[in-house]
Amino acid sequence: MASRFLISCASSLFFLLAVSSAPTNEGKLFDVRSYGAHADGRTNNEFAFTKAWKEACQWSGGRSTVYIPPGIFYLRQVTFTGPCKNPITFLIEGTLMAPRNPNAFKEDQWILFKYVDYLTVTGGGLLDGQGSYSWPLNNCNKNPNCRTMAINIAFAFVKHSKINGLRSINSKMGHLNFFAVEDFNVTGVTVTAPGDSPNTDGIKIGRSKDMHITNVTIGTGDDCIAILDGTSNLVISDVSPGNYASHVQIKDVKYHKIWGTSTSREALKMQCSKSFPCQGIVLSDINLSYSGRDGLVTALCENVGGSVFGKNVPDNCRICDDLLN
Ligand SMILES: *[C@@H]1O[C@H](CO)[C@@H](O)[C@H](O)[C@H]1NC(C)=O
Ligand SMILES: *[C@@H]1O[C@H](CO)[C@@H](O)[C@H](O)[C@H]1NC(C)=O
Ligand SMILES: *[C@@H]1O[C@H](CO)[C@@H](O)[C@H](O)[C@H]1NC(C)=O
Repeated sequence: MASRFLISCASSLFFLLAVSSAPTNEGKLFDVRSYGAHADGRTNNEFAFTKAWKEACQWSGGRSTVYIPPGIFYLRQVTFTGPCKNPITFLIEGTLMAPRNPNAFKEDQWILFKYVDYLTVTGGGLLDGQGSYSWPLNNCNKNPNCRTMAINIAFAFVKHSKINGLRSINSKMGHLNFFAVEDFNVTGVTVTAPGDSPNTDGIKIGRSKDMHITNVTIGTGDDCIAILDGTSNLVISDVSPGNYASHVQIKDVKYHKIWGTSTSREALKMQCSKSFPCQGIVLSDINLSYSGRDGLVTALCENVGGSVFGKNVPDNCRICDDLLN
């Protein structure tokens, strides 16, 4: 069995820790409007955005910033590729609006950053996946071969980077995706989709290490934070169906101060394989309630090694010290 962790999501779950944010020097500004972008909610802006990115990424004079000012920018699928010559900031103050039609996407993500180091995504802007138009087409709860739809924003092979302030709403099929990232911090992120929207995971993480996820508010229709196999040294999280082989494991994941309401009674699930148990799992100050009638939640924990501190609800997660490693 593949390792499988999840904290079921409900109308809301909150992940909170103290966050320190230092002001960053923005360096040279590359305003997408200078590359032909229009905040009219209609113009296709992907060429302007990728052009601004390319120039900012190749800027050799120091830190660069791609600037998206306030306004509504319609944006089709876009990939921002590194490596860049210097640290780069993607400053979103406005709203990015995805195509409504799921056929407009050839990839599984709407906005993708890949092979970038020292990237900062900030500005407190909004990503609107416009998922309500495609949710009726989603039958993944019945059909295992269902079509996948786009995740709002994804990071692949990105190192020494952070997201600091971003809102993501109504994704077609998931909000934030991290694959093979390293030394990546996520703070001040809000993710929302209606509780009955299908398969809208909040944050999904795979094959990544050294991540801190703090001060994040998630309210979606599916898993809040899903951690797939091959992920280690993660502070604050949980995991969902691992599509990967079960010989990779999850290690050193700390869940601290997690509270909210779960739509399923089994609010916390950690199912790890017997031959490759999950190790170094730490639970502390978890308080989940069930949105159903009597409000009592339970936990399911299999082959989990680690430790438990403080008060935790549910408190029946069986963590085996002998798996501690
Ligand atoms: C992420 O946060 C940790 C802990 O505060 C810090 O040590 C690390 O340098 C941060 N990394 C980035 C890329 O901001
Ligand atoms: C947490 O994030 C929100 C934005 O979602 C921000 O307004 C708030 O200041 C942050 N809190 C801390 C303690 O950093
Ligand atoms: C958990 O939260 C509920 C409110 O949602 C509160 O009534 C209860 O006292 C909390 N339990 C602990 C152990 O903090």
